[in-house]
Amino acid sequence: MRRTHALLAALATGALAAAAVLTVTPSASAATTLGSAAAAKSRYFGTAAAAYKFSDAVYTGILDREFTMVTPENEMKWDATEPSQNSFSYSSADTIVARAKANGQRVRGHALAWHQQQPGWTSSLSGTALRNAMVNHITNVATHYQGQLYAWDVVNEAFSDNGDGSRRSSNLQNTGNDWIEVAFRTARAADPSAKLCYNDYNTDGVNAKSTGVYTMVKDFLARGVPIDCVGFQSHINSASPLPSDYQANLQRFADLGVEVQITELDIAGSGTAQATTYANVVKACLAVTKCTGITVWGIRDSDSWRSGDTPLLFDNNGNPKQAYDAVIAAFGATPTSPSGSVSGSPSASSSPSTGTGGSCTATFTNNAWTGGFVTTVTVKAGATALTGWKVALTLPSGAAITNSWSATASGSSGAVTFSNVGYNGSVAAGASTSFGFQGTGPAPTGTAACA
Ligand code: G3I
Repeated sequence: MRRTHALLAALATGALAAAAVLTVTPSASAATTLGSAAAAKSRYFGTAAAAYKFSDAVYTGILDREFTMVTPENEMKWDATEPSQNSFSYSSADTIVARAKANGQRVRGHALAWHQQQPGWTSSLSGTALRNAMVNHITNVATHYQGQLYAWDVVNEAFSDNGDGSRRSSNLQNTGNDWIEVAFRTARAADPSAKLCYNDYNTDGVNAKSTGVYTMVKDFLARGVPIDCVGFQSHINSASPLPSDYQANLQRFADLGVEVQITELDIAGSGTAQATTYANVVKACLAVTKCTGITVWGIRDSDSWRSGDTPLLFDNNGNPKQAYDAVIAAFGATPTSPSGSVSGSPSASSSPSTGTGGSCTATFTNNAWTGGFVTTVTVKAGATALTGWKVALTLPSGAAITNSWSATASGSSGAVTFSNVGYNGSVAAGASTSFGFQGTGPAPTGTAACA
């Protein structure tokens, strides 16, 4: 016992760098989740969520456990937020944002301007009156959520499917071709910190529609119209299979200088075929540096807008499907949430290995945003194999850990220590393993001690 305390004290001061004998008290490990597996690769993993399902404990159990990003499925759309002209209604959307915040999750806003799900009153407007109504809508809604969102889908589905890369005909398009750039400029003025995205479907491969979007984004960037990201919905089924040039298409947008995100992923099917396609989407995102995250369009198959296609990662009972394990594995992680568990707290627990450790080093990188961060730590063994490890670092004032994975955290602010979990304590000489944690406040700086 005294030996453990001495080790922790030495680690906390960063004084111990050489080989050490570790005596680790067994404790529950953090289970691997979709969110943790993605965060270990500096990506988020999100889902669409519906406020009216928050009374369903199976639903919220999975939502809280697995996801690091949340998109309101319908609650931020024009019909929901402005049911009567200039009279705004935010209660359902606010519920989602507050719940996400309380769980350390970020939020993608969806969607400020779209030809669908408009309130009835817009149908009597056109021309300048409709344009002014759109601007007023964007200003009000984006201002209401100012500083609270990771990103906004500013404009959704504005290109046609007719194969010539043209704009979709709609009441908004009829107000003038500049309606999209006006929407982006208005959103930037109202919420300067949210990333501003264009979002669409059937743009997943290189085709006339995605090239139409590509040309618009390139033009916006050249003319200084604020745009930060492009969302690829990726609703995949047999009529619309995952294109072979999916990654290349993401990359060509990234090469323009915008971030790319998979925003509404669902893949019709089952078993190995579905799992393989999910894994291929993850691998494509990982291969594109500027692909910052993946959002699935719902939690259980029964939550899907097309539930008959069983397109999601959890079955109707909330059990993880084969595709779930494939996603975790594609991120390079090991599933610890056993197939068959329904919901609630992660059920994995293990006894960390106890033994003689060799020397090691710990380095970390941060993915930080206003008010929070994800830190990924790499533990590298020296000339001797490790059979267990501990990493210590000191968080800056105001920082607090909300979640960690692939390590057991001791403490959540100030001096914190992380020890290996059961499966990653053994590290061959010269090899590495990694773990991560998420927190609020400023990201860690300085160095981490490893023993
Ligand atoms: O809330 C009412 C309920 O009171 C009523 O009893 C019921 C009867 O139909 O309808 C309910 O509203 C439905 C709403 O989903 C909530 O479930 C609407 O009819 C239905 O049209 C609406 O569908 C949404 C759809 O967008 C509308 O276009 C889906 O949930 C939502 O998943 C879907 O999401 C879109 C993205 O925003 C954009 N990309 C495509 C994606 C899939 O269509």
